[in-house]
Amino acid sequence: MIYSSLVIKFTILYIISYSYAQQCEQTSNAARFNCHPENNPTEATCETRKCCWRPPIPQTNATVPYCYFPTDFPTYEIISNETTDFGQRIRIQKLQTTYMPHDILNLTVDLIYETQERFRIRIYDTIYRRYEVPLQVPVVEKRATDTDYEITFSAKPFAILVTRKSTGVVLFDSSIAPLIFADQYMKLSTRLSSPLVYGLGEHRQPLLINVSAEWKRLTFYSRDFPPVENINLYGVHPFHINLERTPDNQTHVHGQFFLNSNAMDIDLQPLPAITYTTIGGIIDLYIFTGPTVENVIEQYWAVIGKPAMPPFWSLGFHLSRFGYSTFENLWETIKRMHDAEFPYDVQWTDIDVMSSSLDFTYDRERFQGLPGLVRGLQSEGKHYVNRLDPSISSTQPSGSYPPYDDGINREIFVTKYNSTDPLVGEGWAGRTVFADFTHPNAVEWWTRMATAFYESIPFDGLWIDMNEPSNFVDGSHDGCTANALDNPPYVPHVLGNNLSSKSLCPSSQHYLSFHYNLHSMFGYFESQVTNTALKTIRKKRPFVLSRSTFAGSGQFAAHWTGDNRASFQDMYYSIPAILSFNMFGITHVGADICGFGLDTTEELCTRWMQLGAFYPFMRNHNDLGQKDQDPASFSWEAQQIMKQALLMRYSFIPFWYTLHYEASMNSKTIIQPLFFEYLNDKNTYNIDQQFLIGRALLISPNLVSQTNTVDVYIPQDVWYEFSSGVEIETVGQFITLNAPISKINVHVRGGFIIPMQTPGANLILGRGNPFSLLVAPSQFGNASGNLFWDDGDSIDSIGTNTYNYFEFTLTTSNTLTIDPLSTNYKDSPMRLDLIKVLGVSKPVTQVTVNGKVYPNYTYSIFDQILIIHGLDMNILVESSQIIKWTTST
Ligand code: NOJ
Repeated sequence: MIYSSLVIKFTILYIISYSYAQQCEQTSNAARFNCHPENNPTEATCETRKCCWRPPIPQTNATVPYCYFPTDFPTYEIISNETTDFGQRIRIQKLQTTYMPHDILNLTVDLIYETQERFRIRIYDTIYRRYEVPLQVPVVEKRATDTDYEITFSAKPFAILVTRKSTGVVLFDSSIAPLIFADQYMKLSTRLSSPLVYGLGEHRQPLLINVSAEWKRLTFYSRDFPPVENINLYGVHPFHINLERTPDNQTHVHGQFFLNSNAMDIDLQPLPAITYTTIGGIIDLYIFTGPTVENVIEQYWAVIGKPAMPPFWSLGFHLSRFGYSTFENLWETIKRMHDAEFPYDVQWTDIDVMSSSLDFTYDRERFQGLPGLVRGLQSEGKHYVNRLDPSISSTQPSGSYPPYDDGINREIFVTKYNSTDPLVGEGWAGRTVFADFTHPNAVEWWTRMATAFYESIPFDGLWIDMNEPSNFVDGSHDGCTANALDNPPYVPHVLGNNLSSKSLCPSSQHYLSFHYNLHSMFGYFESQVTNTALKTIRKKRPFVLSRSTFAGSGQFAAHWTGDNRASFQDMYYSIPAILSFNMFGITHVGADICGFGLDTTEELCTRWMQLGAFYPFMRNHNDLGQKDQDPASFSWEAQQIMKQALLMRYSFIPFWYTLHYEASMNSKTIIQPLFFEYLNDKNTYNIDQQFLIGRALLISPNLVSQTNTVDVYIPQDVWYEFSSGVEIETVGQFITLNAPISKINVHVRGGFIIPMQTPGANLILGRGNPFSLLVAPSQFGNASGNLFWDDGDSIDSIGTNTYNYFEFTLTTSNTLTIDPLSTNYKDSPMRLDLIKVLGVSKPVTQVTVNGKVYPNYTYSIFDQILIIHGLDMNILVESSQIIKWTTST
């Protein structure tokens, strides 16, 4: 008896351990999916989760999880599957709960065939409605046909497989790890098509996230912290692009957007695979099949919304600092910029001009002259931007501070859990409450407050800072609650290890939902409300600059990359950040030029002004206590170089403005990495120290201190050096270029025509200046370009058809045609004075303009450049104009 029971026990043990071993067998470390992402896992805690615990084999990389899911970890299976108008509705069920509290056992999976290139997977609780991200995404009721993708799924365990029909490449495969769906813990893994990933912001990281050998964890929860690597930062954009290799060795791309606003971790591992771990909402995932990057971006922006068209003046140079401290200092700075004749458009002020840091005030003693100064700037065509906090002082004498009193009356502040009392935290203005921009009364309240301020200082744009939202105490002055919102069973790896760290209690309440759900959208809603307020107040196209952003913020605001430092490394990191934000649909983006924290140096600031001249949003901003860094504060030599850079920017403004039109109308990024355009060229995949403006200008800044050369990659194409106009011979390789302090390398790509304009002292004064065309023929001798122009300030010149639009075409027969496709904006003259044609290899014998011989041209056989000058051609006409040249044979 004893013997037989021992045998049974032994057999059971053997079966258990055998099957444990088998279920834990992994072909490689890379195939392990982390069952214990919390810090400090132990064998014991791992085993209570019924997961496998083994040191990595071989023991190489400390980030390989020791605790990982066995292949038979309990998960869902299909119980029904129904074809619907939008695609398929599948019910799935799990029979047993696992380690996270409140496992949800019955789920619904909607597979929505939204368009031929866009597919959406929604997984949610079958019984109870859960929080969903309040973005206005397209609602698709009818299944798209002839899709680029094919969906199959497995019933037990439930998994989805998405393949690209044309190549068979797997775009999505959730069979690699168990799906987990508990109330405050959802986990979904899918295979990546390659280890090459881009996007997933806001993080300080190189452009390419390459997980061929590395494990990488990125955390998403908006946070006020000076950008450093491996932490969650100001904004949340769970969108990425993944490269795929086709069977015939071409490169395709697809994109994925995880529509979720809760705190989350995204883990990448060399399998390659990606795991989304979120603590709220539902699983709502989009797949965009591209197959080019341009296609993916367009498909993504169709979901989140396209970037806004910025006002024309906002493309100029912006000057700002924290700590002008006195009116005299501010005035001195403006005067020295003026005396040194720098092109410049926008003056900003920071918190130090406010009275006791209170929103909608200025210090009437220290800055008494501010209203007059602003009006003076505006009379010269310049503009002024004012800064706001979302936190409102709650300690002013009753009846003395309308932003608080009126806000209380309208009940528009974020409240404590289960209470109508506002949550009290701490901001620049001392004890503060926090505006709830999801509240339907917020627009009217914010607009009224801004209007009252506008009457004393007619600002042109608003800068919304600290909107992660930032709080100088954790949670609130009264702490947070003991409930599960403030103490979730799993906390993603946020800075401070706590969701209330330097922000609000997750349990606090907005009109739309708990802060727990909406935290990372705070800046999004503030941007939307501020944009609306500005339209009402100024009746012109709004300019909003927001520090915190979420997917879709680009419809309302521009962005800067926050509190960087004056270092060459920070200057480098600005490039991948700006390129990534372009993918995220926030095309009007820049970094604090010359660095915010730390004292800059003349060398760094000179290099950074040159680079910043090619940021979509160009602002030099500085921290309290740091030495001055406005261009006019440097030596004469440095000033000349900075001026040169500014003049270059200003001469390209028609091109920039047209790019913004292309972004807002046709979903094009404004600046982009080389791989967007040279997708089959592997050399471009890792390049983030060079970038393209539109598709036509290649910028290669020198980012290394004390060097006079820069190593660059010139893709296989026709390229002309911008400064000399001469075609370069070495293409398709890495080369070294001269890059002394006086020079930023700019190359013009063959095949493009770039509209330019003679710079004025500011953009408004320069508006009527003559235009020119820079024509860069391709290897075949043709080129094209376009120009969008309007009054630069009206809210909807496109809808009201009050704009001009031209197309320029160069054909192989040396014929340049200017086609005016729309000429409904006639308030400003548009005269073309000069055409510069590069790469004209044979001597030009004659030029004709609209059929008549035109004598004013020069041709240099040495540089192969034709310059047709003194044209004074009115291009605001109804018919096409033709410029031709003949060459000797
Ligand atoms: C933080 C912002 O990031 C910075 O740009 C600003 O100068 C300070 N707040 C003070 O307002």
